[in-house]
Amino acid sequence: MDKFVVTGATPLNGIWEVAGAKNVALKMPVIALLTDSEVILHNIPLISDVFFMLEVLSSLGVKSQIKGHTLYIKNGHVSEITVPLEVGARLRSSSLVLGPMLARWGHAKIPNPGGCRIGARPIDRHVEALTAMGATINYNSADGYFHAQAKKLRGTTIVFPKNTHTGTETIILAAVLAEGTTVIENAAQEAEIDDLTACLNLMGAKIRRVASRQIVIEGVKRLSGVEYTIMPDRNEEVTVAVAAAASGGTVTVKNSQPQFLTAFLSAFRQAGGKIELLEKGVTRYSREGKLSATDIVTQPYPGFMTDWQAPWAVLMSQAYGRSTIHETVFESRFSYVKELVKMGAEIEFFDPQVPNPDKFYNFNWSDLTHGNHQAIRIKGPVKLHNAVVTIDDLRAGATLLIAALIARGASYIHGVEQIDRGYEKIEERLVKLGAKIKRLTSDHL
Ligand code: EPU
Repeated sequence: MDKFVVTGATPLNGIWEVAGAKNVALKMPVIALLTDSEVILHNIPLISDVFFMLEVLSSLGVKSQIKGHTLYIKNGHVSEITVPLEVGARLRSSSLVLGPMLARWGHAKIPNPGGCRIGARPIDRHVEALTAMGATINYNSADGYFHAQAKKLRGTTIVFPKNTHTGTETIILAAVLAEGTTVIENAAQEAEIDDLTACLNLMGAKIRRVASRQIVIEGVKRLSGVEYTIMPDRNEEVTVAVAAAASGGTVTVKNSQPQFLTAFLSAFRQAGGKIELLEKGVTRYSREGKLSATDIVTQPYPGFMTDWQAPWAVLMSQAYGRSTIHETVFESRFSYVKELVKMGAEIEFFDPQVPNPDKFYNFNWSDLTHGNHQAIRIKGPVKLHNAVVTIDDLRAGATLLIAALIARGASYIHGVEQIDRGYEKIEERLVKLGAKIKRLTSDHL
C-alpha cells in the first residue's frame, strides 16, 4: 500500500488542468454493452475506478484498450452474465450493468456493490425501478449476489422516492433499449447524468430532460457505436479551488466549469474566496484577506454537493468564527474528522434537530446506525500541524492531503489508494504547484 509524505505550509501557485470526470468516466464504458459497434471515449482519466469498471466489463467478455486518455471498447461476444464477486464488489457503479444486460440478454448476476465507505449505500431504489420495468431481481444473502432476469424490459413511469444519481443512470441505461416510453420523475440533476445522456443520444437513443427533474426516454431497437469526449471533473476543480485558498496561493484552473458549481462558488465567495473568470473554461482561485465562517447544508445537485463538504471543512478550519456542515446525502461521510483533529483542527459533532428526518435526509433514515452524527462545528482559524493519518474514502483523502499541505511539518498519509480511485497522479500535479509530496510505494517500505 502506498503512502504520501507531505511537507506542508507552502502556498500553491500555478496552473491546473482538470482531468476527465470520474463520475462519468467510470460509468460510460457500460454503454459498450448496449451496442455491437466500437465505442471510443476521449478524456478518460487514468484512475483506478475506471480500471475497476473495465475489469467488470472484461469479466462479461467486453474488450477494451486505453491509449493515452482514449478508451476503445467493444462488446464483441458477451459470454458471461455473472460479474465475479471480487471484481464487482470493489465498485458501487458495477450495478449499472444490470439494465443493459437485462435489456439485451435477459439475465444478470451481480454482487452487492461496494465502493467508498461512506454509508450503507443500498441499491433498493434501483432495484424497485427495474422491477417496475418488468425485471425480477432477488438478493441471495447466501451467495452475496443479486440474481436478475427479465423476458422484456418495458417502459413505465418511475417515481424515485428520493434523489439517486446512479439510480437515475441505471434506469436510463435500462430504458434506452426497453419497449415503449419510460418517464423518470424526481430524476437526479447531476451534470454527469446529462453527459451520459448526450453520448447515448449520439448513439441513437431518444432521451430528453423535459423538466429539471423529469427525464423521458423512448426505447429504440438498437444503438450504434460512438466517439465522445467526456466532460471535465467538477469535483476536482472544487478540490483545487479549496487547496488554493486554504494554502494562501493562487491557482488558475483550465477546463473549468463554473456553470456547474454555482452553490460552491457562492459559498466560496461568502467565505472570502476570490474567483476570477478569465475566459471560457479558465478560472483563477485565491482568497481575499481573511476567511470567514460559513454554514453549509449538503444537498443533491444543484445544491452544495456532499462531495465538497470534506475539503470545505479544511478551508473552514482556517476561517474566523464557527462554521457548521450538515451532511444530508450520506449518513456516514465524516471519517476525515478524527484525522483532522489529530492535525490540530477543532471540530465537534452535533445532531441538528430536523422535523421530519425520513423526508429531509437523502439516505434512508432507517440506515442510520447508532452513534452516527450528521453535522460538525468547526472553530477557526487554527494552525494545523503534521500527523500520521489514514484515509477512509476518496474525498476524505483529498481533504487530508490539503490539510497536510497547509500544516507545519511532515505528515504521513496512509491509504493513498483511495485517492488514486478518483484523482489521476494527484501528487505529480500538486508538485507542479509547489507542493512537497513524496509517494512511498510498497517497494520503499
Ligand atoms: N440510496 C439509497 N438507496 C438507493 C440509492 C441511493 O439508500 O437505491 C442513498 C445512498 O446510500 C445515499 C443517497 O441515497 O445516502 C444518495 O445516493 P445516490 O444514489 O444519489 O449517490 P450515488 O449514485 O451512490 C453518486 C456519486 C457520489 C456522489 C453522489 C451524489 C458516483 C460513482 N458516485 O453516488 O460521488 O457523492 O452521487 O451526487 O457517481 C465521489 O465521487 O466521491 C462520490 C461518492
